[in-house]
Amino acid sequence: MSFTIAIDGPAGAGKSTIAKKAAKKLDFLYMDTGAMYRAMALYLIRNNIYENNEKDIKKACEKADIRIAYEDGVQQIYLNGENVNTFIRTEEVGNMASKSSVNRDIRLKLVELQRKTAAQENVIMDGRDIGSYVLPNADLKIFLTADIKVRVQRRYEEILNKGLKCNPEEIEKDLKERDERDRNREFAPLIQAEDAVLINTSYMTIDEVVEEIIRLART
Ligand code: DC
Repeated sequence: MSFTIAIDGPAGAGKSTIAKKAAKKLDFLYMDTGAMYRAMALYLIRNNIYENNEKDIKKACEKADIRIAYEDGVQQIYLNGENVNTFIRTEEVGNMASKSSVNRDIRLKLVELQRKTAAQENVIMDGRDIGSYVLPNADLKIFLTADIKVRVQRRYEEILNKGLKCNPEEIEKDLKERDERDRNREFAPLIQAEDAVLINTSYMTIDEVVEEIIRLART
């Protein structure tokens, strides 16, 4: 039987950084489910399909073959055989992913792949609906949050580190919009599972959060 850890929370709470580090320490696979929604969004952009075009999205779900692989322990995402890791981190793709991930067909397609992986491996999976929908029987569920001002600051620094320009007010507006969409979508919204442990990362270091998750995993 595999051991599964679900980490959910809003954008900028520190999910991927923390999940990646904890997975390394526990020697678990780290699965970034947001990357899958981003790969699907990239397919839609490349094929000029809008996020509200349900008919074409249904067809796209059949045509887009999304797979993940691990190379030197790092998750690689393949879209119809092409490694798209370097293309999915743009603002354009992130925006489309935020909108298109509301679509039920997209979610069902990607959830199937997420569940299959979790059945075979010890995994830390991060996303929005992992503890509440994808892995309701996960061995440990964490809900990571951080105050909006802290999340804005983190996002701001991340963008500056990429050598890009940005404005904190726009980031705050964007994060709030994404949270709204994630929390209010009809199918598998962002929600803290009843049995999830809430960790507010606002005033914790990355290592403190990682240690807390490892402690919880071992108790
Ligand atoms: O975590 P991220 O920014 O890479 O995720 C990209 C988008 O995908 C995000 O706007 C919300 C969506 N997403 C989701 O709906 N469900 C998940 N399990 C993971 C991500």
